[in-house]
Amino acid sequence: GTYENVKVEKVGEKKNVTLIQLNRPKALNALCDALIKDLNQALDEAEADKDVGAIVLTGSQRAFAAGADIKEMQDVKSFSDVYNTNFSLAWNRVTESGADIAEMRNKDFVEVFSKDFPKFDGIARLKKPILAAVNGIALGGGCELAMMCDIIYAGERAQFGQPEITLGTIPGAGGTQRLTWAIGKSKSMEMILTGNRMTAQEAEKAGLVSKVFPVETLVDETVKTAEKIASFSKTIVSICKECVNASHNMTLNEGLHFEKRLFHATFSTHDRQEGMTAFVEKRAPNFKDC
Ligand code: HXC
Repeated sequence: GTYENVKVEKVGEKKNVTLIQLNRPKALNALCDALIKDLNQALDEAEADKDVGAIVLTGSQRAFAAGADIKEMQDVKSFSDVYNTNFSLAWNRVTESGADIAEMRNKDFVEVFSKDFPKFDGIARLKKPILAAVNGIALGGGCELAMMCDIIYAGERAQFGQPEITLGTIPGAGGTQRLTWAIGKSKSMEMILTGNRMTAQEAEKAGLVSKVFPVETLVDETVKTAEKIASFSKTIVSICKECVNASHNMTLNEGLHFEKRLFHATFSTHDRQEGMTAFVEKRAPNFKDC
C-alpha cells in the first residue's frame, strides 16, 4: 500500500526485500501516532508477503528518527493519560505486533505489565528478519526502534542517543533494556544518564551496530545483506532468529535446550534435506520454505 509517513518499496534483484523508509522530513522522522500506525501496517504487509524474505528499515540521510513526537507528548498530564493516549497505544502496537490493545486498555497497569511482559519484545516478534540502516540521528524512540531490529548497520555520520533525561523522562520503548544488552552497563548508564550521543564508529566498537558504511552506500549495502538472508529458507531463517532472540529471555541451560529442540525440528523440513543434498551433489539448493 501507500502511506503518508513511510515509503514502501520491494527491492533487490529478486524483489524479495521490503525497504521501508520513514518519511516525515519536516519533523526529522519524529515518531508521531500516524507514522507509527503507517509503520505497523507496512510491517504487517511485509510479514504477510510470501515473496519477501527480509525487511530493511531506514530514514533519511539526516535522520533515522528524532524520537517519539515531543509535541504529541507535551500535554499529557497524568499516568492514565499517558497509558491511554494515542501515542502510547500506537507504540504498544509496534512493540507487541498485533496484541489486542482494547483488551489491555481495560486492565489494571500492574496486571497488564506482568501478564503481557513477554510481548514487550517488539519488532523482534516479526518472524522475518529486519535490518536497520541508520543514517543521521537515532535519538530516543528512534534509537529504541533501531534496537528492536535484528541487525543495525550505520552510515559514517550516524549518531545514537537516549536524550529522554533532558526532557524529564526516561526511555520508554526498551532503551534501558536493549541498550544495556547491546553495550553493557557502564556505557549504557553513561548514555542514558547524560543524554550524550554515541557516534557510528563508537557504536560499532561497542557492538551496538555491526558495520559502518559511507552515507551514500549504506542502504544498498544493507539491502545486499538482506538479499543474502532472503536467499535462504524462510522457515529456517525465522527459526534461527527465534533462537537468537531467546537468548535474552532464558538461562543458558534453557536456551541450549530450546536451540537443540529447534535444531532437531529443522531435520523434519524439506529445506534441511535439500540444503544437505545440494551440498553433496555440488549444486545450488532450491529451498521451498517448508
Ligand atoms: C517532535 C521534533 C522532534 C521530536 C525534531 N522535531 N525532533 N518534533 N518531536 N522528537 C522537529 C522540530 O521541532 C523542528 O520542527 C524540526 O523537527 C527540525 O528540528 P530542529 O530542532 O529545528 O533541527 P536541529 O536544530 O537540526 O536539531 C535536531 C535535533 C533536535 C538535535 C534532533 O530536533 C532535537 O533535539 N530533537 C529532539 C530529540 C529528542 O529529545 N528525542 C527524544 C524524544 S523522547 P519545527 O516545526 O518546530 O521547526 C522519546 C521517548 C520514547 O523518544 C518513548 C516511547 C514510548
